[in-house]
Amino acid sequence: MRLKKAIYKALLLGLCALLCACGTQPSQPETGARLVVVGFSQVGAESDWRNANTLSIQQAFSAENGYRLILDDAQNKQERQITAIRNFINQGVDYIVLAPTTERGWDTVLSEAKAAGIPVIIVDRMIEVADAELFTCWVGSDFRKEGDIAAEWLNANFGDEELNIVHLQGNIGSSAQIGRTEGLNAALASHENWQLVFRGPGDFTQAKGQELVEEVLASGIDFNVIYSENDNMAYGAIDALKKAGLGAGKDVTIVSFDASNTALHLILTGEISYDVECNPLHGPRVRAIIEQLMRGETPNKYTYVEETYFDKNNLTEAIIAKRGY
Ligand code: AHR
Repeated sequence: MRLKKAIYKALLLGLCALLCACGTQPSQPETGARLVVVGFSQVGAESDWRNANTLSIQQAFSAENGYRLILDDAQNKQERQITAIRNFINQGVDYIVLAPTTERGWDTVLSEAKAAGIPVIIVDRMIEVADAELFTCWVGSDFRKEGDIAAEWLNANFGDEELNIVHLQGNIGSSAQIGRTEGLNAALASHENWQLVFRGPGDFTQAKGQELVEEVLASGIDFNVIYSENDNMAYGAIDALKKAGLGAGKDVTIVSFDASNTALHLILTGEISYDVECNPLHGPRVRAIIEQLMRGETPNKYTYVEETYFDKNNLTEAIIAKRGY
């Protein structure tokens, strides 16, 4: 009897040791292995782009792929992201993925993640920290290049014309706003015939985009171009123009960013004239980085994704149908 008990005890201890070993080390996810826990701090749900981005991350970090994703929606507030990261640290996640609201203000919380030994992958927008070792790597867009591409199109089509430009900005302090604004500023500096008649933050939302253009229309400012730092603000702008009896693409040329599905259809109808792509499908890219880390490899510190642009000359329904967002 005593011998049987001893055998059971030994078997039980062996089983516990095995379970504990499986529970401590993140490894290449396989069937039967512990799920790798990823904490993802997302900016919010302000745009179609953002929703496509969230979905891409959710699909990449599914349980079938060997992951448990903890998603936190910060509702566009940096302080909420900081709290979320602290919660991830307390929960002992294996990896933290951060899509940052703004570029600055991350040093303290990322030092805490570093002290806890948790790798941090930055996605989409860039961050500005004193020590680049505070994050493992970054993958996202070259927002300044996007701004330059949009400005080049304006130059190619209206270089010698008198432009009165309304500029709808995204969240102030985000890389997407900074880069796209810099692109326009550089073009304004080299065109005496282009005037910036209004500039204001529309927070990347449709409602704010509409509100700003309604304000501009109500104040009687004369304009013939809207440079909208994302598609959702452009949708709002189009609604405001329609309400005022103006035609987007006729009375006012709209240049936008993201190239999301609805916007591409609006290029076909002529309401948006030009759209610079910003690719939101980062899920597989971030997953590939985490899998590199699990294999003990060193991912590239910075990866810029390839992006394109669209106008009525290079777009068809068939092209739109093939795109994932
Ligand atoms: O950081 C990417 C930007 O954020 C997209 O252009 C915008 O739509 C989103 O909200």
